[in-house]
Parts: sequence; structure tokens; C-alpha cells
Amino acid sequence: MGIFTHSTVSRKPNESMRLIVTTFVGIVFGFFIGLSFPTLSLTKLNLSSRVLTTIDFKYTEYKKSGPSSSSSVPPSIGNNGSSVNVTSKIWVPSNPRGAERLPPGIVRAESDLYLRRLWGKPSEDLTSTPKYLVTFTVGYDQRKNIDAAVKKFSENFTILLFHYDGRTTEWDEFEWSKQAIHVSVRRQTKWWYAKRFLHPDIVAPYDYIFIWDEDLGVEHFNAEKYIKLVRKHGLEISQPGLEPNKQLTWQMTKRRDDCEVHKETEERPGWCNRPHLPPCAAFVEIMAPVFSRDAWRCVWHMIQNDLVHGWGLDLALRKCVEPAHEKIGVVDSQWIVHQSLPSLGSQGEAQNGKAPWQGVRERCKKEWTIFQTRFSRAERSYFKEINSTFHRTTN
Ligand SMILES: *[C@@H]1O[C@H](CO)[C@@H](O)[C@H](O)[C@H]1NC(C)=O
Ligand SMILES: *[C@@H]1O[C@H](CO)[C@@H](O)[C@H](O)[C@H]1NC(C)=O
Ligand SMILES: *[C@@H]1O[C@H](CO)[C@@H](O)[C@H](O)[C@H]1NC(C)=O
Ligand SMILES: *[C@@H]1O[C@H](CO)[C@@H](O)[C@H](O)[C@H]1NC(C)=O
Repeated sequence: MGIFTHSTVSRKPNESMRLIVTTFVGIVFGFFIGLSFPTLSLTKLNLSSRVLTTIDFKYTEYKKSGPSSSSSVPPSIGNNGSSVNVTSKIWVPSNPRGAERLPPGIVRAESDLYLRRLWGKPSEDLTSTPKYLVTFTVGYDQRKNIDAAVKKFSENFTILLFHYDGRTTEWDEFEWSKQAIHVSVRRQTKWWYAKRFLHPDIVAPYDYIFIWDEDLGVEHFNAEKYIKLVRKHGLEISQPGLEPNKQLTWQMTKRRDDCEVHKETEERPGWCNRPHLPPCAAFVEIMAPVFSRDAWRCVWHMIQNDLVHGWGLDLALRKCVEPAHEKIGVVDSQWIVHQSLPSLGSQGEAQNGKAPWQGVRERCKKEWTIFQTRFSRAERSYFKEINSTFHRTTN
């Protein structure tokens, strides 16, 4: 033990420690790349080989300059070199789960989607830090529509495309595509991607997050103006009004001519037993929702990993904000058209003589029932637990 407290000899163990840490990080990194590569082709983040060579290169550089020049040895992890107290251990319960052994100053619990360069000063990488995020789940066939939509979002937006048809490089025909983030996983749904790639800790810098379908007409929509209205009216969860068309839509999400924003409506007789509740208030549809950072943190947790179509989610959104009938609403003066183009539905599979879209539709309905059942069960068991705790403590 004694020799470890001596500063002169402490460098050797540190050096080997550094080696072990570097090797370990390398192995873990390699493992994750190996793990994620066959299933995900993050085409634009096609880093694997490049990153590995970079790490290799850095490591060699580091070895060359490291131990020989004693003056330039950086302080190693966990001690400043002058005195090593091997018995002192770090344990910070308030750190994120699993990171308790780290000094809080080094913990970065949240991330972002900002692109960085591989050279220069890290502090000078970012020329802009967009405050809003918009995601579209897309197939290449809808590129014209998406191109038109993206142009309605200013430079204050990070653009993220989820590709369900595996075609990504073709999108570079659009200039904006080169700055966008592309995630390509075949035949998955919007909510599948959202659950996997929009973790609240990853999208933490964004004030608002748009999670949109690909078949929306945006001629009468401007994203900056939309956000102004959402802020003004205190909407945590919102959507642009829908131009009424042949399709049956909810009264709640239909665009109105006479106001900026509405939060309540009247439905057909018998549909709304109670005001302030869906479908007459406190809900928006799942095709073009916009979430505030806080609302998304809650909604993300509510999304089920296996219920990929998100049916029923719209009616449950109100559980995430309080009071829901004031913080959920529809923006009328920036509105969209739902074009109902065939998209993911046609990516299903023909089974038992049924068309692909039929199988998808059936699954949607099934998922809706499952979601409702799960939710009410969860609520019941929560209240049961609360009640019994209450009785235990009062008796
Ligand atoms: C280095 O460690 C010693 C003993 O723990 C401490 O007194 C000193 O302030 C530390 N120096 C720096 C620069 O952290
Ligand atoms: C090492 O650190 C622990 C915890 O901070 C402290 O209780 C102990 O006295 C220290 N030992 C020495 C030798 O400095
Ligand atoms: C982007 O955001 C900044 C800061 O909020 C604002 O001044 C600017 O007008 C926005 N850009 C557009 C195109 O609205
Ligand atoms: C819990 O207690 C409340 C009031 O005492 C009661 O209305 C409710 O039914 C109870 N719930 C369960 C699941 O026992």
C-alpha cells in the first residue's frame, strides 16, 4: 500500500491503468459496433472503419509522446499525480444510475444530435445549435413531399429522417440532405424509431420535437410561426389543424378559420360524455404531433417497445400533462393537409390471402386494445398499491 502514495513511483501503475482503460474502451466500442452493425445501417454515420483507424492512430501517437516526456503527461483519471489515496473511492448516489463511481464533474448524462468535425478545437465545432428537432419517417417515393416539407423548417431545426425502405444516399440530390441525419432501418414504424432513437436524454437540447408522417401537405404551414403560437398559448403537446377532407377526421383536429389555436371542441352527439376529455379536448392525432421537451420525456416512457403503430397513444397523451385540456391543443392558423398516401401500410406482407395493408390495419387495432388493457391494469395496480400502503401506515 505504502508505495502507492509516493508520487515518484505512482506513474508506473497509472500508465498501465491507462493502458487497461484504453484497451477496455476499445473492446467495448468494438463490441457495440459489432452488435449494432448487422441490424442497423446508420448509413450517414458510417463511421466504423474510420473511427477505428482514428482511435488506432491516436493511441499510437499517445504512446509515442506519453511516458517519455514527463512534463506533458496529462493527469490520469481520478488523481492529479501529486498524491494518490488508494483507499478513497468515489460513490455519488445522485449520479445517473450506473455512473455512481464517477466524479460528477465528468458525467454527461445528456447528449444531442449536433454534427461535429474530426479536426480543430471541439469548442469551435458548432456553428449553430438548433433549438428544434423535426423527424420524418420516409420512403424514397415520397421525396418530393418531404423536400417541400423540409423547406418549411428554418435553419433553427435539426432534420432527422427515418428511412423505412433502406434508400438513403439517393436523398443527397437535395442539398439539405447532406446536413440532415439519416437513420435507416427497413420496414419499421415511426414509433419504433422514436422509441429507439429519440431518447429524451439524447434530444435534450431541443425545446420542441416534431414527430411527423411523410404524407402531410405543408403549403399553409410555417414552422417558426407555429412555434411562436405554441409558446404563446402554452401548448406542451400540439398539432397543426387539418384541412377537412373526404376522410372522417376528429372534430378536435379539424382546422378552424376563426382562431389561432383551439383546445376544445364539440363532437357528434354521444361521443363526449365529459368535457375536457378526449375526443373533445386533451388530444391530438399521432400523424403530426409536436412535443415540448418535458412532454416528450413523459411520452417517450409511455411508448411500448412492441406496440409499433402507436394506436391509442393519442388518447393517452393527456396523462403526460396537467391540466391536459389547457396544454394540449390544435394550431389553426398554421395548418396542414393529410394526403393519405399509401406508405408504410403497403410495406406489410400478404398473409392468408389478405392484402398487406389489411394485415397492418388488423395489427393496429389489436395493438390499440393491448395498449388500453396495459394502461388500465397499470393504473389499477398502482392505486391498489397506494391504497394498501395508505392503510398500512394509518392502521
Ligand atoms: C492534488 O491532490 C492533493 C491531495 O489530494 C490536493 O491537495 C490538491 O489540491 C490537488 N491538486 C489539484 C490541482 O487538484
Ligand atoms: C483517503 O481518503 C479517505 C476518504 O476521503 C480518508 O478517510 C482517508 O483518511 C484518506 N487516507 C489518506 C492516507 O489520505
Ligand atoms: C431562428 O432563431 C433565432 C433565435 O430565436 C431567430 O432570431 C431567427 O429569426 C430564427 N430564424 C428564422 C428563419 O425564423
Ligand atoms: C383505493 O381507495 C379509493 C378511496 O379509498 C377507492 O375509491 C378505490 O376504489 C381504491 N382502489 C383500489 C384499486 O383498491
